[in-house]
Amino acid sequence: MLEAALQASEAAGLPPIAVTANLGKLLNLLVRVHGARRVLEIGTLGGYSTIWLARALAPGGELVTLEANPHYAEVALANIAAAGLADVVHLRVGPALETLPELAGEGVPFDFIFIDADKQNNPGYFEWSLKLSRPGTVIVCDNVVRDGAILDPDAIDPRGAVGAVQGIRRFYELLGAEPRVSATAMQTVGAKGYDGFAIALVTGQQ
Ligand code: SAH
Ligand code: DHB
Ligand code: MG
Repeated sequence: MLEAALQASEAAGLPPIAVTANLGKLLNLLVRVHGARRVLEIGTLGGYSTIWLARALAPGGELVTLEANPHYAEVALANIAAAGLADVVHLRVGPALETLPELAGEGVPFDFIFIDADKQNNPGYFEWSLKLSRPGTVIVCDNVVRDGAILDPDAIDPRGAVGAVQGIRRFYELLGAEPRVSATAMQTVGAKGYDGFAIALVTGQQ
């Protein structure tokens, strides 16, 4: 089903930027280790990482995933349904900075949050993730190394996304200064080159 989701995404013209299988499995393991019941994903694409995450949910769990692009969302919904996960995955279409306040208004925190959308908005996604957290929530953020470009304050993102490196750098500043989280970042070299992910544990009261 995971392979089929990637194939259907490629056939529908989606960019090949899903997490690697290794990172997908790591996300799956982290959700299981945590025993998470409520998972939030920011950036669905074709639903590949969504399927890895949703398969890891504890019984009775649910996953909310946010996607701005209606065409990608349509492809993702088909992939999620084909994987038998339509009942546990709820996809909200729209810019995440518009759908995150809606979720916050609903007032139910998430146990695990995966940030993987447009990197220039990572600072805002991190702030909203904190609002949607409780002590014990785990926040994972993808693509925090970018071939090492994050070391250069003036870098143009090596993969073309405008403002991505600056968004990731600002995200690190917020992460480092935030007393309510304890965090680290891991560099990875693999099928999709040199990149990495950050992982944060929410320790403090909101
Ligand atoms: N998590 C996916 C990959 C996501 S790629 C996986 O690993 O399988 C990044 C996604 O974020 C793209 O689908 C893109 O359309 C979406 N995106 C970009 N800007 C966004 C925004 N402002 N709000 C929500 N989603 C956005
Ligand atoms: C790219 C990779 C990602 O994992 C992502 O979320 C966005 C873009 C890239 O390689 O361009
Ligand atoms: Mg990513």
